[in-house]
Amino acid sequence: MNAAKTDFNDRLLSLGLARVAEQAALASASLVGRGDEKAADQAAVNAMREQLNLLDIAGVVVIGEGERDEAPMLYIGEEVGTGSGPGVDIALDPLEGTTLTAKDMPNALTVIAMGPRGSMLHAPDVYMDKLAVGPGFPEGVVNLDMSPRERVEALAKAKGCEPADITVCILERPRHEAMIAEVRATGASIRLITDGDVAGVMHCAESEVTGIDMYMGQGGAPEGVLAAAALKCMGGQIFGRLLFRNDDERGRAAKAGITDLNRIYARDEMVTADVIFAATGVTGGSLLPRIKREPGWVETTTLLMRSKTGSVRRMSYRTPMWSHKDA
Ligand code: FBP
Repeated sequence: MNAAKTDFNDRLLSLGLARVAEQAALASASLVGRGDEKAADQAAVNAMREQLNLLDIAGVVVIGEGERDEAPMLYIGEEVGTGSGPGVDIALDPLEGTTLTAKDMPNALTVIAMGPRGSMLHAPDVYMDKLAVGPGFPEGVVNLDMSPRERVEALAKAKGCEPADITVCILERPRHEAMIAEVRATGASIRLITDGDVAGVMHCAESEVTGIDMYMGQGGAPEGVLAAAALKCMGGQIFGRLLFRNDDERGRAAKAGITDLNRIYARDEMVTADVIFAATGVTGGSLLPRIKREPGWVETTTLLMRSKTGSVRRMSYRTPMWSHKDA
């Protein structure tokens, strides 16, 4: 086989990846605000899988919808693509923010990242303690071993401002109560989100638009790898430590080949080679507008990024409702 055809050509593959994210969003469009998370998720999963299988790749889902025996489609280890192109790792979340979609709340996205085979951490479906900041700060300006107060103070110092000028994004969960109280005690402001920490982390990379300087807290480990792929393209730092609550979760780590359970992964340890990343807005937020529907037409906006070049495209796509399936 022709070597060029089996190389991971991020430039050529990127448009195909954008279409995968777009089609997943289009499929969930009619389910925004309908109160049915499962239906919205299933529609996005089906569309993403269908589109992925049209790409000339020999893809393996590394971050997916769950373990093979639990998830019917796009499970971890599932092979996707026509099989006739380069071997690639794929991390995906067909609908990041199923509840946000069902309730029509901000920042639900369809998300997918692709890199050469072996480029992504096989994170098991457990929680991850995450800490992220945007570009322009010295490596390790904040770290996971610092207390929340120390993180705010270190970032404020590096930014040349007061802690009161820092905004931290945190998932609103009972497990974060102490963290929230400690951050508030520094005078920093907190943007609480109910779901969607991939978007939460990505907000740090465009802080002048989003107003968010730092993300911290525990969320899904798969979402952590997706967020690392996004920041590898946009710039910025993310650190993650897997969290295990029981033997079943430790077993998942063993299955994924993870032996050091306390390891802290930096961004480039979660995503070790250049990747491409696409996300389409389902409900709107400061990163991406929502899907727009009008009689007979639908419009989406997709963020398409390549880490090799640092290019960030926002592409709008308008299509008649009846045609998008054959596109
Ligand atoms: P879903 O899209 O699967 O509903 O996940 C949304 C999410 O908010 C993620 O962004 C986040 O990492 C995780 O759930 C947090 O998990 P939990 O709801 O258990 O705190």
